[in-house]
Amino acid sequence: MCYSPGVMIKQAVIPAAGLGTRFLPVTKIVPKELLPIMAKPVLQYIVEELVQSGIEEIILVLSPEKESIFQYFSEGSFIDQLLDQRGHEDKLLELRRLLKQVTFRRVYQHNPLGLGHAVLSSRREICTDHFAVVLPDDIIFSQTPCMQQLIRAFETCQQTMVALEEINDEHISAYGVVKPAQVVEVGKPFALSQLVEKPSKKDAPSNLAVTGRYILSKDIFSHIPEKLEKLHKEIQLTDAIAQLITTSGVSGFVFEGQRVDVGQPIGFAKANIMMALQEGNDQAEIKSFIEEIGL
Ligand code: G1P
Repeated sequence: MCYSPGVMIKQAVIPAAGLGTRFLPVTKIVPKELLPIMAKPVLQYIVEELVQSGIEEIILVLSPEKESIFQYFSEGSFIDQLLDQRGHEDKLLELRRLLKQVTFRRVYQHNPLGLGHAVLSSRREICTDHFAVVLPDDIIFSQTPCMQQLIRAFETCQQTMVALEEINDEHISAYGVVKPAQVVEVGKPFALSQLVEKPSKKDAPSNLAVTGRYILSKDIFSHIPEKLEKLHKEIQLTDAIAQLITTSGVSGFVFEGQRVDVGQPIGFAKANIMMALQEGNDQAEIKSFIEEIGL
């Protein structure tokens, strides 16, 4: 694959092999990444963010049962042809334009053993020194696409970087939490001295939690074990990043924007409302409906 010159981060990995248990029963048959926010699947918003950030190739980490995700981002299917014949091509225009700007590859994670394992599954497809990882559970509403903010920051320090957000004490134990080694400034990268996965409230080294956006050095692969180690429940990405902190250094970056966790139904409802209230959607109708029901 030949990438555009001058662009440093061209490949992005999207782990999407999980069972989506928080969305059962619908995820028995529909991957959560294809559930719609307005009329577009969650994953399309993520792909849009990546394309706007200059990503040219996306590696989807899938399970064989979630092949429909790859099909959604492929063209020329029977249904595509049928929709064209029946005059509905205008409704596919936006998606088709998007697909022209990015290439998709897929790898399989047959036995999901954790986020580190998902990233390791993409190893053979990575041919650049650094690559992005995006967790499709996090949609970020922002002026500048979140990944673009991260890539710009990366260009200034060129080391592994994690996107960070301030989280309340009561929720901190659901995240990877960092210890900054420098003064924290929003919109500027800073060095990290520690990263711990899901610490208790009292052990958390700060209130800055890792959000689902990363830029990783290819070196990460040598820090991810291929097999689940004794006493570990998952192969964590956090453990590998923590090792990079001590070897080559890792930066943190507090992004501008509002994150919505669409990996669970409440966040999903919030994202639908927020998207419906965006300009160009049916903003006025939604606003008057909210008034009508007395909210
Ligand atoms: C994963 C990571 C965690 C990170 C979180 C962001 O956790 O392991 O470090 O803070 O994503 O959403 P998960 O949500 O998969 O449990």
